Formats: sequence, C-alpha cells, structure tokens
Amino acid sequence: MVMAGNKKKLAVFVSGTGTNCENIIRYFRGSERGEVALVLSTTTGCLALEKAQRLGVPTMFMSREDFRSGNRLLPVMDRFKIDFIVLAGFLQLVPDFLLGRFDHAIINIHPALLPKFGGKGMYGHHVHEAVKAAGETETGMTVHWVTKDYDAGEIIAQFRVPVYPEDTPDDIAYREHLLEMEHFPKVIEGLLGDLHL
Ligand code: GRF
Repeated sequence: MVMAGNKKKLAVFVSGTGTNCENIIRYFRGSERGEVALVLSTTTGCLALEKAQRLGVPTMFMSREDFRSGNRLLPVMDRFKIDFIVLAGFLQLVPDFLLGRFDHAIINIHPALLPKFGGKGMYGHHVHEAVKAAGETETGMTVHWVTKDYDAGEIIAQFRVPVYPEDTPDDIAYREHLLEMEHFPKVIEGLLGDLHL
C-alpha cells in the first residue's frame, strides 16, 4: 500500500484551457499515489492557470526565456519537490536539461493515435481537422514519454474511438476529449505506482 507520506508530487505544464489540468487536480485529490504540487505556464492569460488557482493549487507563470534557462526552471522544480511532470496541452518543447533531470518522468497527452497526426503544428483543432480530412475511421488519445521533439517519444498508452463519415472535426474532438477525461489521470496514477524514487 502507498502511504500518504509517499505521495509523488506532480507538476502540470499548461498553455490552454486546462480541462485536463482541472481533471487531474480533482482526480488526485482522491489518490494516495500523487498530488498536483504546481501548475506552470509560459502563456500569458492562460485559462488553465486560473482554473488551478481557483482550485487552490500553487501556480506559476514563467517567461519562455526563463523556461529555457536551467538556472530558473530547475530551482522551481526543487522548491516544489517535483517528482513527475505532466504536459497537459503544453505547447513548448521541453529543454534538454529538464529531460536529463526527469528521465522517464515527463509525459505528454496527444489527441490522436500517434505516430499519425503528430509533430510541429499538430495541436488542438488542427489534429481533428487532419483526422477528418484523411478519412480516418478511428482516432483516439496517446500518452507518451517526452523527448526533445514534438510527439516523438515512446508510446505509453492509447485509447480509441470511432470516427463516423458524417462527423465534423468538432464531433471528433468531443468524442476524443471524453477519452482524455476518463483515462489520462488513471494512466498517470499507474505510472506513479511504477516510480522508484
Ligand atoms: C488536449 O486535447 C490534449 O490532448 C492536447 O491539448 C489539449 C489540451 O486541452 N495535448 P486542455 O487545455 O486540457 O483543455
């Protein structure tokens, strides 16, 4: 059994509306394995930060320049005693020094079945529009380890939903988003159970 004192501390990095961030915060309030200790963004006016603040979770805005500086970012990770980093709609590449410090401890969620529909510029609605344009009969979500490139790391988990011929990109986005809400926190929790820190 995981004792409360062993709870892993999560940092969630965000750029957007924060539906995943909020869902993760709420989920881990009922988990013995982890807690969200910090939500960080490099986007001014980021809605996800507001949501986290309202939920009473420490938040931080950091300029993109500071984010790319080990002297600024690493002390923050230390101060909040972060064990594991979740990118939840975070649009920046992760700098090498962070990948080095958090080896197999940074994951990302992508709203398609990688390796299809990934890479630079493939985020948000662009992904669902591309899925529609390609005439796919299924789509889904992918959780993967983060590397220095966009959406390129080893796949940890995928979940699928059908795409119907009459679907609009919005329909596809809606159905895929339900998967994220259901599965992403559970995948994180499972990974925390495997961490030997
Ligand atoms: C999600 O679709 C996620 O898959 C992608 O970015 C979106 C973030 O949405 N990486 P939100 O900010 O969690 O609402």
